[in-house]
Amino acid sequence: MNRNLLAMRHLDVDDIQYLLAMAQMHKDNVEAGDYPAPPSVRRSVGLLFFENSTRTRVSFEKACHYLGYQPVNFSGDGSSMSKGETLRDTIFTLKHERLDALVMRHRSSGAANLAAEYFGGPTVNAGDGQHEHPTQALSDALTVLSRKGQIEGLNVAIVGDILHSRVARSDAWIFSKLGAHVRFVGPNTLVPSVMSGLPGSVHYDLKEGLDGADVVICLRLQRERMKGPHLSSSREYTKLYQVNRAALRVANPEAIVMHPGPMNRGVELDDATADGPQCAVLEQVTNGIFVRMAALQWALGDDRGDA
Ligand code: NCD
Repeated sequence: MNRNLLAMRHLDVDDIQYLLAMAQMHKDNVEAGDYPAPPSVRRSVGLLFFENSTRTRVSFEKACHYLGYQPVNFSGDGSSMSKGETLRDTIFTLKHERLDALVMRHRSSGAANLAAEYFGGPTVNAGDGQHEHPTQALSDALTVLSRKGQIEGLNVAIVGDILHSRVARSDAWIFSKLGAHVRFVGPNTLVPSVMSGLPGSVHYDLKEGLDGADVVICLRLQRERMKGPHLSSSREYTKLYQVNRAALRVANPEAIVMHPGPMNRGVELDDATADGPQCAVLEQVTNGIFVRMAALQWALGDDRGDA
């Protein structure tokens, strides 16, 4: 059976736990030098990136490599979309190129749902506008599980430009569905009251938001998505909201610091934190491969009997 992975909001807890267990199994196998047997049917997976990406694109490619799937790379530039073809016609074309699954990143919120509808087969959202980034949330949850052993009952503070962040939304859903207490922390221009539609409490004061936090997720100021003046200056933002040793004093001494990347060092977090023992950023990157293996197999229905 084919499935789509479009948003954490609509995924039930059993599916989330299943995907995390499958990702952990892939992690153990890959670390032991065992790759899963290639599927009996050859699979080709379209990787459509209409926005820049380093981690997400490479980890989907690496996931395909470990699974024996063939990645077919596609970006807006250099394709017929730069000649005026619509997203709909492009996806219909790819469907008729007989791709088995689609992974898509796009600047518009909701684009992944449209793509899934046009493609009519397994589709994985690799980030759509400010909406969701479900595989990043899976990789963040796997990272917390491996560092902390559990998610239930933890205080998870998501700090920074929540307004423009698809990661904040997907993380809020996954961590709250798994029993953590989520907090959104940042200036009121970047943590608007509409966040009340998401599971989590809102804190405009960094100290209050980090008080007793077990997990601190820093976010980049996503200037490419800002339509108006959201900040008086990035100096002031850094002064009030940077995650650094002084700010972490009120957090749990065992707190871990995460970031989906790309990091803007010296803005949302300082070098000492980014390079310190509490930082789990590079584990998030590696876990990204294993959760994407799980997501692709699950979407394609190749996972039966595997986890
Ligand atoms: C994020 C994204 O693209 O949503 N990065 C990622 O996928 N790891 C976060 C960001 O761009 O700030």
